[in-house]
Amino acid sequence: MDYVEKYGRWALVLGGSEGLGRAIAHELASRGMSIALAARRKGPLDEAAAAIAADYGVGTRAIPLDLSSDDVVDQIEQGMEGDDVSFIAYNAAAEPYGEFVELDLEEHERNLAVNVVAPTHIVRHFGRGMIDRGRGGIVLCCSLASTNGLYMWVAYGAAKAYLHIMGEGLWYELGQHGVDACSFMIGTTWTDNFQRTQERLGGIYAKGRIPEDLPPEMAIPQLPEEAAGNLFTQLDEEWLPLVYANPVDEKRVKMMQAADKAQLIRMAAQGQRDWYS
Ligand SMILES: NC(=O)c1ccc[n+]([C@@H]2O[C@H](COP(=O)([O-])OP(=O)(O)OC[C@H]3O[C@@H](n4cnc5c(N)ncnc54)[C@H](OP(=O)(O)O)[C@@H]3O)[C@@H](O)[C@H]2O)c1
Repeated sequence: MDYVEKYGRWALVLGGSEGLGRAIAHELASRGMSIALAARRKGPLDEAAAAIAADYGVGTRAIPLDLSSDDVVDQIEQGMEGDDVSFIAYNAAAEPYGEFVELDLEEHERNLAVNVVAPTHIVRHFGRGMIDRGRGGIVLCCSLASTNGLYMWVAYGAAKAYLHIMGEGLWYELGQHGVDACSFMIGTTWTDNFQRTQERLGGIYAKGRIPEDLPPEMAIPQLPEEAAGNLFTQLDEEWLPLVYANPVDEKRVKMMQAADKAQLIRMAAQGQRDWYS
């Protein structure tokens, strides 16, 4: 499918320098779009942009920025050099881990800035342009942690729930103006960042491997390319308010929705105690 004709030329991938964001950028480039990537570390960002240009022959831009800063829209506008943003994939995340009242206030603030404030400013600003042009696409990455309250991930899950509901609501609201939008539900995905987090927290996937005694309630991690591939297979067909990265997770979420909430949250908390040292 030619996304340039459908949406316009430039896609902006926030958090596009590695892992899932980079895989999403490749999917968009393979559909003909030029790609603007944003992330904090300039090295991986430049390398990712150069690889996309070489692989797909599309235009690329690298916009180094921290999405917790308060002028993200201005920084993106500057990086876009006057070109319209026709597609947004908001993939970057802050991932505070710890009991809510024990987390540093700074971590809470970064969580809100990256997972709530920045996507609000970015979608509000660039969404207006999309409405004026009568076309555009917006994908907001949420998480299985945004489906139920989750011990130790309360702040992260609550912030991702904002994105989850925002994407679903925008699906209708922007859809009225010819702009596609959705939430993208992500489960365990084998990215470098995921592995770094597992190492840092002593998780069951630390040491770079899937444990042999993986509990049955834990999904086998997906590769980022698989997750991004599933997203675009769905979007090529039809935009739904919520798109799952992994069909297994869709079944798990539906089971969770039917389960007793208190029991579910207690069980998941036990999992957090068992799976992280
Ligand atoms: N991996 C999983 O198992 C999993 C599970 C559920 C949900 N998710 C969701 O999936 C998405 C991808 O997560 P991931 O951990 O796998 O990461 P990833 O896509 O492999 O990489 C994260 C990207 O975001 C950028 N980034 C992070 N913080 C940023 C900031 N403050 N400002 C600008 N860029 C920033 C990173 O580059 P820099 O570090 O250079 O900034 C990198 O490009 C996230 O929305 C996450 O919540 C992941």
